[in-house]
Amino acid sequence: MATWFDIAAAADLPPGRRVQRDVAGVAIIAVNLDGELLAVEDVCTHDGAPLDEGEIVGGEIICPRHGARFCLRTGQAMCPPAYEPIATFPVRVEAGRVQVLV
Ligand code: FES
Repeated sequence: MATWFDIAAAADLPPGRRVQRDVAGVAIIAVNLDGELLAVEDVCTHDGAPLDEGEIVGGEIICPRHGARFCLRTGQAMCPPAYEPIATFPVRVEAGRVQVLV
């Protein structure tokens, strides 16, 4: 059963910031994209590289290893060499804390 996990204070995730957390054995990046909170799995589907240090451009995160791009809202792979999506997770703010549903 999915559970909400506390990952950060909302104040620590202002627009333009991100946090990386291991939640229930899943590596997750939560991103504040111009006020919209999004969370994705921190594993590239091409060759397993972490995405957390990838550049974010136009709502997409770019894998630092070979340049695959993933939509932060849907997880969809937007260009080769990745073809499979990354997982996405619902995000909410409760009592000033950012939570993800995993
Ligand atoms: S590991 Fe991410 S593009 Fe290759």
